[in-house]
Amino acid sequence: MTQLPRPSQLHSPYGTFDLSRYPFRAGETLLAWCGADTLALEEVHRRAIAGARILVVNDAHGALCVALQPQALWTDSMLAVQALRQNERANNRPQTPVIWSTDAPTVAVDLVVLRVPKQRVYLEYQLSELARLLPTGAIVLAAGMDKHLSPHTAAMLERYIGPTERLPGKRKARLFIAVRDRRQVVERDVSATYYCAPLGANLDNLPNVFSQDKLDAGTRFLLEHLHLAEPVETAMDLACGNGVIGLVAVKQGLAENLVFCDESALAIASARRNATTIFPQQSHSFQFHHGDGLAHYAGAAAQLILCNPPFHQEHIVNEFAGRRLLQQCSEYLAPQGHLLLVANRHLDYLPLLRCRFSDVKKCASNAKFTILSARKG
Ligand SMILES: C[S@@+](CC[C@H](N)C(=O)[O-])C[C@H]1O[C@@H](n2cnc3c(N)ncnc32)[C@H](O)[C@@H]1O
Repeated sequence: MTQLPRPSQLHSPYGTFDLSRYPFRAGETLLAWCGADTLALEEVHRRAIAGARILVVNDAHGALCVALQPQALWTDSMLAVQALRQNERANNRPQTPVIWSTDAPTVAVDLVVLRVPKQRVYLEYQLSELARLLPTGAIVLAAGMDKHLSPHTAAMLERYIGPTERLPGKRKARLFIAVRDRRQVVERDVSATYYCAPLGANLDNLPNVFSQDKLDAGTRFLLEHLHLAEPVETAMDLACGNGVIGLVAVKQGLAENLVFCDESALAIASARRNATTIFPQQSHSFQFHHGDGLAHYAGAAAQLILCNPPFHQEHIVNEFAGRRLLQQCSEYLAPQGHLLLVANRHLDYLPLLRCRFSDVKKCASNAKFTILSARKG
């Protein structure tokens, strides 16, 4: 039976909306908006910029777009778009056009409402593209929760956009208002490259990609245990980031075909770029799926899934995001298919795996990580 989200009501100057988070979680206690969203909505309304053409950036669950009905949402996240669509349906709102983070926005805009992202380089990338887009006098209203904001946010807005005002904080959130002036667009190379020894090649990483400037310790531990998997026709790198795990699997001859899957558009673009550069003769063997895990994946079932699952939802560290992906694996793996994953030691996926798979084993562990192996019965 499909479980339906239980919405809460957001009272905003633009009306009252029923909003729920995506993905659905039984017993959810978190709201689909935060103090930064409500502060931003109040400030846009207070400024009453009649007929302003608005671009929303990094809306998490659709609260900003459902209220403001902007020209477009600029985002990296498929989960955010799923949340937005769910909340638009619930409130009979038309669909907001989506511009993926991999494209520079080209819509005419007078006002940008931006939720400050977690990664500094990603913010710099977005501000640099916005500076290119915005006419003189256009406003960037940036909002964030105090505990997530860096002390450099105002300086970055000033550097890329123009004169910036830091408004007094409220509801543990803060707003910055930057006005685009005539300063030159700051060109900044926001991709990062590191040499990956197990691959014997450089990996190129776009902004907002996991562990952008070095091989993650958990990933490294999984790569040291890829010998536990037998070669198959089709393997999947689920939650692929820059594609490192799948690419090492290809190098070791573990799979003829590899499917890379991630919810981040920039992760998929990085994986595609790395696969094309490192294995130029094998492009026909690679597929790229930008999606919420395997929820809408319609390709062939894989005999092997390799995964370093996400261990947080936005800023909150927990097992939920990883558990969902592992549940999906139990549905999408081919019969007798093999799941090999690395998990932070404190995240206990064993009960879930035992319930959904057979032949579940803890194969190795070190001070921080565990390697788990499971078969579809
Ligand atoms: C721990 S990182 C691993 C990245 C890469 N495999 C590595 O080892 O460097 C987890 C990845 O999961 C992705 N992710 C989070 N939730 C997801 C979802 N629902 N569907 C697909 N990917 C997701 C994140 O974008 C991130 O790239």
